Amino acid sequence: MIVCVCRRVSDREIARHARAGMNFDEIQFELGVGTQCGNCECAAREVVQQCCATQ
Ligand code: FES
Repeated sequence: MIVCVCRRVSDREIARHARAGMNFDEIQFELGVGTQCGNCECAAREVVQQCCATQ
């Protein structure tokens, strides 16, 4: 599922980076998620948190 429409970033892509040990800021820098309109930021942070909670 696409989380960030502006940058076409999927939840899978965010989760993959989170599992690799990156925090939200690092993922944002790497993928650009949430750097345009910002509407996706909460959803993207949630994906990262869910990944961290299940590790
Ligand atoms: Fe992610 Fe706009 S939807 S920055």
